[in-house]
Amino acid sequence: MKKIIIAIDGHSSCGKSTMAKALAKAIGYIYVDTGAMYRAVTLYAIRNGMFTGESPDAALLESRMDDIHVSFRLNKETNLPETLLNGECVEKDIRGMEVSSKVSPISALPFVRTAMTRQQQLMGEKKGIVMDGRDIGTAVFPNAELKIFVTASAEVRAGRRFKELQAKGEKVDFEEVLKNVRERDYIDSHREVAPLRKADDAILLDNSQMTIDEQNAWLLKQVRRIT
Ligand code: C5P
Repeated sequence: MKKIIIAIDGHSSCGKSTMAKALAKAIGYIYVDTGAMYRAVTLYAIRNGMFTGESPDAALLESRMDDIHVSFRLNKETNLPETLLNGECVEKDIRGMEVSSKVSPISALPFVRTAMTRQQQLMGEKKGIVMDGRDIGTAVFPNAELKIFVTASAEVRAGRRFKELQAKGEKVDFEEVLKNVRERDYIDSHREVAPLRKADDAILLDNSQMTIDEQNAWLLKQVRRIT
């Protein structure tokens, strides 16, 4: 079977990572969660006092970009990938509401995108990779052999994210989660560099009414079609 690059892009909280992870496992590919990379940079900015309200100090962050190293490792017990920031596992810290509410302005900064895109392209050099994000099919791998663009209504996505955060024991308010989902959609799709948009050759998947099993089966069919 020939190895390809699979780009899965789409809106916030539409289950991209869940489907990308399951697909990578099923076909023996490497999985890369690019959102986790932008989240880790955001955590670095928060920890180093680079935010005044919602606005990051871009000049300060740019001067520190060379000190920020994001990588992944596989947790041997759970068999799930974990995100490392300068060698420290930050998987839990990057998933909370504080990072979620500050990640979009950070990921709109051109120098952050350049650094992350370069790293992602290196990760995909040997193909055999499933990468999820916002700009994988448009900017990171415009020649990816399979591109999927996932979406669902904002309410459905906020409902899923709300349940996820509640299950992790985080105190959350549904309206706050919905507001965050809508705000991220807006910033992600209106930024100047690599805005969130469906690549012309991407297949659209609206999973509002689909179960995870249905979605996984659909995805596997798309892969089998071209490999
Ligand atoms: O996928 P996830 O929701 O974890 O991504 C967090 C944020 O990172 C997104 O809202 C978006 O602002 C940013 N992002 C991006 N480009 C990517 C992946 C994520 O700008 N390829």
